[in-house]
Amino acid sequence: MKVRTAVIPVAGFGTRMLPASRSVPKPMLPVLDTPVVHLAVLEAVEAGIEHIIFVVSKGQDAVRAYFEHLPELERGIEAKGDTKLLERMLAIPKLAQFSCVEQKRQLGLGDAILSAADATGEEPFVVLLPDDVIWSEASTTGAMVTLFAERGRPVIAVREVPDERVSSLGIVDAAEVADRVYTISGMVEKPPLDEAPSNLAIIGRYVLVTDIFEALRQTQPGAGGEVQITDALASMIPGGVYAYRFPGTHVDVGRPLGLLQASVTEALRRPDMASELQEWLRGLNR
Ligand code: UTP
Repeated sequence: MKVRTAVIPVAGFGTRMLPASRSVPKPMLPVLDTPVVHLAVLEAVEAGIEHIIFVVSKGQDAVRAYFEHLPELERGIEAKGDTKLLERMLAIPKLAQFSCVEQKRQLGLGDAILSAADATGEEPFVVLLPDDVIWSEASTTGAMVTLFAERGRPVIAVREVPDERVSSLGIVDAAEVADRVYTISGMVEKPPLDEAPSNLAIIGRYVLVTDIFEALRQTQPGAGGEVQITDALASMIPGGVYAYRFPGTHVDVGRPLGLLQASVTEALRRPDMASELQEWLRGLNR
């Protein structure tokens, strides 16, 4: 079945990015010149997603506003004759159809996804966490949607992480069945290293079916007192859940150093900035 909808939860407190996230929502913080939520939307659109549902906190309007037309700004840029910039600005609201649902209280990612239950309808959908920025040749979400079309069961993105990161992430017990594709036999949120089944960590991309909502309703708050998507997905393992070990570079921009690393990564990929940045970095070492 074609996957047309993406859910992007942006209702969290973003405590690791305080004080920056006090009044600017974390997904609006930029990687270089582009808010992290815009990068997630681009990856979704490249995967063929047509409708994007943001899960926002009460009164948080910045993400919705970002994807709407800004007539005054557009007229101002037009008056200056900067047609390239104008085109870039006009393209943003056209990326997809956008809507918002409100998460009443910040009860965790699982609860945020449950808030989108009415909005997704009966179709499968993807969830993208904008904190996880991935640079790869093809959209990671796109590869996962293709895998879903073949297997018809939920797919989650994973990557290998060093031992010291294991106890702060969701970890899977998995067996490789095809290149980069695994069947999952267990998953656990934030395990102590000596109890972790592997070094494969869940990264914020999921292809889900609507059964997940019932699983979430049945899920008791877990690690950190939050309703964990990992716990709900674990209950679906008997029917089959797949992991996709994506290629490319991944950065968690939900923490200050990660956000800086993402900007550096992005600048080094831009022909108009790379050499100036490299020169400046070399100067720091002198
Ligand atoms: P995180 O676990 O990173 O939480 O959420 P957070 O609040 O954003 O950040 P920290 O840990 O306090 O620094 C993962 C994703 O789930 C969303 C967040 O906005 C983020 O995109 N989320 C989290 C919600 O939408 N609602 C919640 O209740 C919790």
